[in-house]
Amino acid sequence: MSRRNAGGDDDHPWWKEAVVYQVYPKSFNDSDGDGIGDLAGLARRADYLDDLGVDAVWLCPVYGSPMADNGYDISDYRSIHPAYGDMDDWRQVRDVLHERDIRLVMDLVVNHTSDEHEWFRRSRREEDGYADYYHWREGEPDEPPNNWESIFGGPAWSYDEARGEWYLHLFDEKQPDLNWRNSAVREDVHGMMQWWLDEGVDGFRMDVINLISKTEGLPDGDPDAGLTGAEHFMNGPRVHDRLREMHDRVLDDRDLLVVGETPGASVADAREYVGPNGDGLSMVFQFEHVTVDHGDDKWTTADVPLAEFKEIIAKWQAGLADEGWNSVYLSNHDQPRMVSRFGDDGEYRRKSAKLLGTLTHTLQGTPFVYQGEEIGMTNAPFESPDELRDVEAKNYVERAVEHGEADCYEDIRETVEATARDNARTPMQWSDDTHAGFTDGEPWIECNPNYAEVNVERARSDPDSVLNYYRELIALRHERDLLVYGEFELLAPDDPDVFAYSRRLDGERGLIVLNVAADATSFDVPAEVDRDGLELVIANADDAPATVPATLDLDPYEARVYLTPSQEGGVGQ
Ligand code: GLC
Repeated sequence: MSRRNAGGDDDHPWWKEAVVYQVYPKSFNDSDGDGIGDLAGLARRADYLDDLGVDAVWLCPVYGSPMADNGYDISDYRSIHPAYGDMDDWRQVRDVLHERDIRLVMDLVVNHTSDEHEWFRRSRREEDGYADYYHWREGEPDEPPNNWESIFGGPAWSYDEARGEWYLHLFDEKQPDLNWRNSAVREDVHGMMQWWLDEGVDGFRMDVINLISKTEGLPDGDPDAGLTGAEHFMNGPRVHDRLREMHDRVLDDRDLLVVGETPGASVADAREYVGPNGDGLSMVFQFEHVTVDHGDDKWTTADVPLAEFKEIIAKWQAGLADEGWNSVYLSNHDQPRMVSRFGDDGEYRRKSAKLLGTLTHTLQGTPFVYQGEEIGMTNAPFESPDELRDVEAKNYVERAVEHGEADCYEDIRETVEATARDNARTPMQWSDDTHAGFTDGEPWIECNPNYAEVNVERARSDPDSVLNYYRELIALRHERDLLVYGEFELLAPDDPDVFAYSRRLDGERGLIVLNVAADATSFDVPAEVDRDGLELVIANADDAPATVPATLDLDPYEARVYLTPSQEGGVGQ
């Protein structure tokens, strides 16, 4: 498989030309029958990833953890959770990937640790040097120090009986926030990052990195402005200083992919995080396009408004075009399955999964493929709250019933099924064997019952599968600089069904037309598009014309990519 991420110059780093595959290890592949995916299981699938053609793997946390948030609550940054294996297994994964020219990016979770981390234990005991490792506040046990809300629901503070003080946790109470004002904390984090770099990692995905700096004094937040307190911790006052320091001390002069997860970041914020004139991050994960269907919070959802969605994408494409770089994703371990959300997981499952893949692989930016997306995995049924595993979803159900928003689970089941993160975490569907070939034991979370139909084995042997289409998309991306670097321009912004745009690089041009609707439609190619020389290079329908007609008749969820021939050899030559 040809891969182009050998590393270029400063303007063409490998990570701009890469397609990244995200692995959620707990649900990827279980090698020892305990029902939990593991590193040996991942290593066995290296050929699968190679065959798909991806250039890098982002591995979600595999570190020591009590697993209150599936590993995003770390109790030991320098060890591997025994359910996943040990450091030798990790090195094995690193080596089998590197042997195939696939890079390995690790999750870096340093906004918070687990409350079982040694630092927190010491801090709770106010041991020398550790008392200020976290955000502690005195106060009465029935009155939290401020009104901030946790992202997982409820107050962002818990009272610790042992120390007799409150501590801050923007997520679960088992995830206390580190105090980044303390230089000893920063040094410990830098040392840990260095340790992983010495182990040969190729980058970091920085978990909620824009939450690490809080307003001095931790003042109350505006209770009417969404998540209470967010203005004091999202993109906080010293976040850029912290990231620059990290860059200068640890990351500078290395050929790394560094992607920051930045909820609530605007384009202007992102421009400060990304690029040589910013904090040096390669790119960020922004959230605007994956909150476009949210109401007051993620549990009140509406249909995706296409015009607004297009506008958001176009804004980010333009906003980071000259300085900076975009990440491109529609799914990850925190989002419902993209085909269920943005496409149609019934009649048009394959077709719409291919359409969405076409979108993510033809925008400017680095595409991220989340495990199972490449076979069109869908949201799962959660018939009872007992089937939920995620702390966030469980909290939501508990609170909704407690606060009288719902009489019982059945009242909110539809919302949970549309929204819960567990949708993304059902086991990878490898085959139609028991438990989708994921485990010989009992899986930690039920498989999606559609695995008999939707699975890798079946997709592999079907030329028309989503999987084979993804392989083509990834190969195309590797072949054409136009798709990686070309300038993006949104066409027909008001069209309620069609997402169309052009790409342009030097003398090369591209036209991408996606009918994001379950009805057939026609699309008049706007006059500003030069149709001459454009040739069909990939489509999800057999009968798409090879050149661009003045009006395109599009089937439901039809996707077409037309490019002028490559001037450097490759597709279309
Ligand atoms: C990020 C992770 C999510 C986790 C949270 C707290 O958003 O992606 O899975 O629960 O941070 O670490």
